[in-house]
This record gives sequence, C-alpha cells and structure tokens, in this order.
Amino acid sequence: MPLVNMKDMLQHAYRNGYAVGSFDLPSLDFLEAIVVAAESARAPVILSLAESHFNNFDFELAMSAVETAAHRAVVPVAIHLDHGANSDSAVKAIRLGCNGVMVDATHLSLGENLEITSAVVKMAHACGVAAEGKLGYVPDVEEEAERPHGVVSYTTPAEAKGFVERTGVDFLEVSIGTVHGQMNAKHKFDWSRLKEINAALGIPLAIRGGSGVTHEQFHKLITMGVAKINYNTALSDIAGDSIRSAAKSRAGGYSTLLAGVRAAVSSEVERCMRMWGSAGRAAEVMTQCRPWLNVERVVVYNASGLGGERLRVMEESQRQLSAIPGVREIQVGSVANKSTRYRHCWLIRFASTAVIESFNQHPVHVDFTDRLFRTAAADSLTADYLVASVEPDAIDFPFSCEVATPNTRPSLERVKI
Ligand code: 13P
Repeated sequence: MPLVNMKDMLQHAYRNGYAVGSFDLPSLDFLEAIVVAAESARAPVILSLAESHFNNFDFELAMSAVETAAHRAVVPVAIHLDHGANSDSAVKAIRLGCNGVMVDATHLSLGENLEITSAVVKMAHACGVAAEGKLGYVPDVEEEAERPHGVVSYTTPAEAKGFVERTGVDFLEVSIGTVHGQMNAKHKFDWSRLKEINAALGIPLAIRGGSGVTHEQFHKLITMGVAKINYNTALSDIAGDSIRSAAKSRAGGYSTLLAGVRAAVSSEVERCMRMWGSAGRAAEVMTQCRPWLNVERVVVYNASGLGGERLRVMEESQRQLSAIPGVREIQVGSVANKSTRYRHCWLIRFASTAVIESFNQHPVHVDFTDRLFRTAAADSLTADYLVASVEPDAIDFPFSCEVATPNTRPSLERVKI
C-alpha cells in the first residue's frame, strides 16, 4: 500500500526542511536498489520514469514492476513521470500508475510553456495527480562549460511567480545553476535568485542535476525551499564502474557482470537520503500524507435494449471511455454463474477518487450514459470502491461509507479484496 499522494509527500518535506530523492529508473536493478535503500534509510522516495529512457525499455512493462515494488515497499513511495514530452505522455503515465507528472515545455516560448503546463495541470488535477512545472533551462555539463556562467535562461522570481499563479503547478523545477551530469564542485549557484524564488512562491521547489553537488550546496538548496532532488548520472556512473570492474576481474556472462550493480546503486542512494534529511522520515510521512488508492467502479447490468448489437456497441464505448484521463483500465465481463442476477459487468479502474467526478462529467461519459446506457441497460447497479492490495482496513480512509443504489450517482464503499 505505501503509495502516497505525491503533493502531500513533498509538502511534508518542504515544511520540515528536507528533500526527497527522485531517482531515475533505467532498469529493474535500479528499481530494487532504490527501494532497498529507502527501506534501509526509512526514507520516503520518488521513483522517476524519464521519457528519455523509454527507448531503452518498455514503459508499460516497467510500470507493472514499479507499481508492484511501490505496493510492497514499507516506506512511502510516489511514482513520477519525468520530462514527459507532451500532455498525451502525462495521460498515459497516469493510466499506467504514475501519481506525479512533469511535462517539459521549456524548449518553447514562455507563452507556450504556460499554455501546455496549464493544460497538463488541469488534466492531472482532475485525476488527483500532482503536477510539476519547469521554468528556465538546465544545460548539460558540456554545454555549461561553453557559456558564461549564469547568463542563459535561469529562472527569474517574477516569471516564476506568474507561472505558478497561472498554471497552478504543485511544485516548480527551477534553474539556478545546476547542470545535467557530474557537476564540478567549484560550480557556483545563484543563491540570491533561489532565495527570492522561494520567498515569492512558497511551494516545494525541485532541482535537476543533483550529481556532483556538494554536501554544503545540498544543505543550502534545501534550506532555500528545494524539496525534490533529481538524481541520475552519479547512479549511472556507479553502475557502470561496477560492470567495468566485474568485466575486468571475472569471467562470466550477463548476470555476473550485473551482480554488483544493485548493492553499489543502493549504497549511493542511501548516502543521498541521509545527506538530504529524508532518512528516518518514513513513519511521519505515512501518517501525515494521504494514501494513494485506486478506485474500482463496478457496474453490473442487464441489457434489454441493444439486442445483437450489445457487443459491438459496448466494445466501442469501452474504447472511447478508456481514453478519458484517469481511467486506468476497463474490463468487461459476462456472467459465470447462472444464479447471478446481472448478466454483464464492467470493472473500471480509476487512478484516484478525483476521477469519479471528472469521469462522470466528461462529455464522452455523459453522452454514453444519456444516449445509450440508461435506456439500453436500465436494470443496472453501479458502485465505486477504494481498493488496495493489502489490509485496506488498516487505512484511515477520509471518506464516509455509503451504499450505492441502482442508477444513482455512485458513492464510495470500503472493500477488502
Ligand atoms: P543528474 O544526472 O545530474 O544527477 O541529474 C538528474 C536529473 O536531472 C534527472 O533528469
């Protein structure tokens, strides 16, 4: 169960003066290593899926493993889409199980960044998902070396304030001097800029380019509002070193070469968690943040008005309704036991309780229910259930329990599965 609301998680970090690590997952080895480190440090953690890595693995396949790892973990976890290419990427990420999304539109004009980010935030919030925005440009190490320090595309406090107000982002990634890749320790940050941004916004800030930042610099970043640190290159380098050293010293194939990767990555992740103050915070975060729970809509019905067309009509409706943001999956079923009163069912999995309302009000759903379902399947029952894979009774749900009645607006029940 320990998936938690990502906005709550980062608000907790921001208010309590520490930062949560957001670690990229280029492989399953990293996934296991990061979760093991978080459990060992008793730290909240963000599992980050960067769209730039999707050429190396199948995002959909990986997300099954990521979600399983998050559910099994004994520390609070959030799953984040990093550097999404566009709004469709964010919709897909939410469908696959991410509860935080970030679409990077900083290569476009400020106006376009505002427009795209606002649309992503609106969609994400309708799904109950946290949204991160980005303002300013974070270069690669090589690029940075070729330009005068600090002159290009740093985030300005005034722009940041307007951006947050107009888009409604939950966190903002800022550019104040960090770079992608192993940063030189002599590198300087624009501290007064960061201080001003933090004072102007009062929301958790994120930085990209955590590799190579010194202990002192991290400490100062966190005191100035940074609550989310993206960290990748250092872990990738450590994994690479482990593989190179195994290749030199041992004969053997793939498994032998990878044997040391998990321990090496885990040890670095744990070091970061201790340095950033997230170690030891897991229990507080679990009790103070809302659990992230999917909702299962159960619709059972008898179709009298569709005749032989039922299958075709329902298949088409299933396809259209599945595309509504926040819908994770729609399964359809026919009766397995003759004594069951209803012959057909739909099981619709929503990303969160927020989707109940946005789905019900979505024009595609309204059209489906008004034009088709109410008349063709008047004999039906609909109910929404919060679902968890383990011990949902242990979760203090912030909802009252009501029993659904046929053809009324669905309500929430607790269910043990
Ligand atoms: P580093 O690769 O510099 O750690 O930055 C990580 C990051 O920004 C993730 O995209």
